[in-house]
Amino acid sequence: MTSTGARHAPHVAVLVNEVIAALALDEAGTAVDGTFGAGGYTRAMLSAGAGRVIGFDRDPDAIAAGASLVPDPRLDLVNENFSQMDRVLAERGIGLVDAIALDIGVSSMQLDRAERGFSFQADGPLDMRMSKSGLTAAEFLNSADEADIARVLRDYGEEPRARAIARAIVAARPVERTAELAAIVRRAAGFRPGQKSDPATRTFQAIRIHLNSELDELEQGLAAAERSLRPGGRLAVVTFHSLEDRIVKRFFRERSGGKPAGSRHRPVQSDPREPTFERVAKPVSPTERELAANPRARSARLRSGVRTAAPAWKDKVQ
Ligand SMILES: C[S@@+](CC[C@H](N)C(=O)[O-])C[C@H]1O[C@@H](n2cnc3c(N)ncnc32)[C@H](O)[C@@H]1O
Repeated sequence: MTSTGARHAPHVAVLVNEVIAALALDEAGTAVDGTFGAGGYTRAMLSAGAGRVIGFDRDPDAIAAGASLVPDPRLDLVNENFSQMDRVLAERGIGLVDAIALDIGVSSMQLDRAERGFSFQADGPLDMRMSKSGLTAAEFLNSADEADIARVLRDYGEEPRARAIARAIVAARPVERTAELAAIVRRAAGFRPGQKSDPATRTFQAIRIHLNSELDELEQGLAAAERSLRPGGRLAVVTFHSLEDRIVKRFFRERSGGKPAGSRHRPVQSDPREPTFERVAKPVSPTERELAANPRARSARLRSGVRTAAPAWKDKVQ
């Protein structure tokens, strides 16, 4: 974290020095910050000498606050999903860029504002929409089948008591507030005060990932980044849990010529496409020092690679 970042940002940027090192920005290069948030990465990119930064965020609040958080004529802010970056860059006549960073997940501002409904620490309406459009968490929970709710909790929260929690949610409908949902989940999962991990964490994560199509966005964002980088350009991606990290790991392995793991049912086939990434770095985790200053960085992991000159692949991660 840069000292300027610590002074201004309501969200403490994670692994920021490591991301900037992985991007190897040179003077006057053009960079994309795909997840602007509170602008921690953007500010560091500008301090590192970037000639221009295009900051994307799907959250209109982040974009509205952005210009005063990072007042710099080299910054353009765009209220779009990062999966759309290649289209937006083309529409603005920017062309291929030198560096792209993605910092996946929610920001502290989103978590800390009770009215956004992302957190069970403070009571608020069950919203959880990053873009403030589409289905709210309350609308989803009050209309979906029990089996669909259970599938979301299992697939995106790795929740072992998914069925019991889904049943309890359906029995308690309508559910409108974050505190109500947290109480239902704790009761159904047999949570005792003082227990180490609160099961509400997994349920809230699962519903958020589902409503915002976060894993699909990540896959499409990686493919969009591959289309947006010039040969020699660099991609750095920070994730916060294993579901996301698995997608990024598979992307870099596949796109750098590594073979996907085969199985009896899906034997490995040789791929005629050329690698689009090289010099894929070993994953980087926060130092003890960073963790002591920012416990929210606990599960963060950075993966990065350098774009080759090969044409972008047509599909998402296999
Ligand atoms: C972890 S925060 C980023 C924090 C930022 N690196 C900083 O230092 O302030 C993630 C941000 O990405 C945004 N976001 C998540 N998914 C997105 C997507 N698919 N497209 C654009 N923005 C997204 C969220 O709205 C949130 O503001």
